[in-house]
Amino acid sequence: MKGRDIISIRDLKKEEIELVFSVADSMVDIALGKKESNALEHKILATLFFEPSTRTKMSFESAMLRLGGRCIGFSDIGATSVAKGENLHDTVRVVESYSDAMVIRHPKEGAARYAAEISEKPVINAGDGSGEHPTQTLLDLYTMKKAMGGIAGKNVLLVGDLKYGRTVHSLARALSLFGAGIFLISPRELEMPEEVKKEINIEAEGERIEDHIREADVIYVTRIQKERFPDPAEYAKLSGRYRIDSKLLEMAKKECIVMHPLPRVEEIAYDVDSTEHAWYFREAFNGIPVRMALLSLIMGVVE
Ligand code: CP
Repeated sequence: MKGRDIISIRDLKKEEIELVFSVADSMVDIALGKKESNALEHKILATLFFEPSTRTKMSFESAMLRLGGRCIGFSDIGATSVAKGENLHDTVRVVESYSDAMVIRHPKEGAARYAAEISEKPVINAGDGSGEHPTQTLLDLYTMKKAMGGIAGKNVLLVGDLKYGRTVHSLARALSLFGAGIFLISPRELEMPEEVKKEINIEAEGERIEDHIREADVIYVTRIQKERFPDPAEYAKLSGRYRIDSKLLEMAKKECIVMHPLPRVEEIAYDVDSTEHAWYFREAFNGIPVRMALLSLIMGVVE
């Protein structure tokens, strides 16, 4: 995987995803700070965040630092030369000469692919508009494997904003590759795009969680993506449509896990946090060993 761009989850074969997981397993103690590593000493990762982020940016940075590497980057374009009119092309051309790989988040779908065409250094897509978020999918699958021992044959409910939510676009494709049963639960206005549906095996599609919660091994909840709506009135109509709480989870299997890429707004009640169902904070932590593994593989220090 040395030198590879990671733009879409479709860029990775099943065996490559499994390789990321086995390397991630070997890095958990380093991610926890219990063991030291200098595997990425002298390597520099550039983080180009044209949109807000907490988990993706900081877990990539933590992954680099835990492996002895360093990070440069920005998360406020107002403090960069973008504010003076510099375009994405020139920004990428310059940043590639300052770093060994770059992670980019951008509001426009296709921006990460465009950056990869310009850069000779590896480019990792950290979210391109409503497009994809492939490294989120890697940590989501890793979390499911840890929780359930495997993914094939498991029933996964994808709930919420399936139209604009980039994490579910990547995840649905990967779940299909791994043989999970996919249930799409969203308001009609926020259905999974046809181009994704064409590529996945769908068990059922509907608007009500209650219709499938008893079958679920995983309930993967997403935020309604307010920032992507062209019309605020449309968002107001749909926000708050789904809310998972401990009462609703009484209908679920005891071992059913609840996941969320985070941030949550109101989709998961705080009373779920203290139940055995809550896996979203463990999911967020798993971003560190998984991103450590991915960086080690694409920077060629692990094969
Ligand atoms: N899951 C995720 O992408 O979170 P951030 O927006 O905080 O990076």
